[in-house]
Amino acid sequence: METMLTPIRTRLKDETLALACAVSMRRPGDRKPPRRARSASCPALTFSTTVRSIALVRYALAGFVAAGDFSYSGTLFRQVRMTQTWVNPPSDTPLADGEVHLWRASLVQTPDALRRLRSTLAPDESEKAARYHFPRDRDHYVAARGLLRRLLGHYLAQPPQSLRFSYGAYGKPSLADAAGAQDLRFNLSHSHELVIYAFARGRDVGVDIEHMRADLAGDDIAERFFSAREVGMLRALPVAARTRAFFNCWTRKEAYIKARGEGLSHPLDAFDVSLTPGEPAALLGTRGDPRELTRWSLHALDAGEDYAAAVAVQGTGHALRLWQL
Ligand SMILES: CC(C)(COP(=O)(O)OP(=O)(O)OC[C@H]1O[C@@H](n2cnc3c(N)ncnc32)[C@H](O)[C@@H]1OP(=O)(O)O)[C@@H](O)C(=O)NCCC(=O)NCCS
Repeated sequence: METMLTPIRTRLKDETLALACAVSMRRPGDRKPPRRARSASCPALTFSTTVRSIALVRYALAGFVAAGDFSYSGTLFRQVRMTQTWVNPPSDTPLADGEVHLWRASLVQTPDALRRLRSTLAPDESEKAARYHFPRDRDHYVAARGLLRRLLGHYLAQPPQSLRFSYGAYGKPSLADAAGAQDLRFNLSHSHELVIYAFARGRDVGVDIEHMRADLAGDDIAERFFSAREVGMLRALPVAARTRAFFNCWTRKEAYIKARGEGLSHPLDAFDVSLTPGEPAALLGTRGDPRELTRWSLHALDAGEDYAAAVAVQGTGHALRLWQL
């Protein structure tokens, strides 16, 4: 049943969430960049500026590619926004324990590339692909799965076609051979023409991307899917900011439930996420276990002009790296 529904659901998602009317507004976290550090020779150099500079240099030297807001030392340097950049990966991208790798790729592949990706799929995946009614949906599924296999194969130094998946109670895929997979965990999301993957070792991840569509970001849908607190925050915003805020909320909620692996079996009004453009992604409240608030980190991702995206990562203190496939 689940397998039969998935193609329909995926198509519905694209149809219901694909952009009809692009709304140009500031992206989440588009706040003023940190003041440029004054020259080191300047006697007026302040302590806080020094801290900012050290932090920026430190992250730059570490090759940190920022994906949103982060805090430094929890005191002077909070929620500073760095420009998100998806960069071409080097030939090898080893995944260290404290890292989360995000990959962005196009679902629109050439026929040759699609053929190669299709050849790596397992029989059940090929059967699922064949059940899609529309060729575009079928090709996007093949691209998303084929690229997933390619990336996992890269991390595990194994042929993509040799990988086997198992599925959680609510459909979250994971590697079947966890021991051999060095506790490699992953998640993916696709919308319109883009797919995003998240990979980490020993910590759960969930990712969501949505192609924004202004006509869907209405009060009725917000009231149906969002918590009362989220609806209140949304209504308090100027109309021009609401589409972005709506999709901030949507992607953060989905990233969180996908990281937990529960999908929509987790009540969407049982937790609150931030949504205001310019404010950092965060899990703000939960009606369940209060430890959830510190158990997860949420990050907004700048996926593209008309997209909203977010990743939820178990724990804190990880560095995000953004690779463009
Ligand atoms: C998993 C789910 C939460 C997200 O699905 P979605 O947003 O339609 O699709 P996405 O592209 O983001 O993610 C799909 C991928 O997530 C993965 N996935 C499937 N079930 C999952 C689960 N329970 N947990 C985490 N990941 C899951 C799969 O890899 C899937 O890709 P595949 O079908 O190509 O294998 C799904 O349960 C769902 O039905 N969503 C409906 C959307 C909705 O109403 N959201 C309200 C949010 S406010």
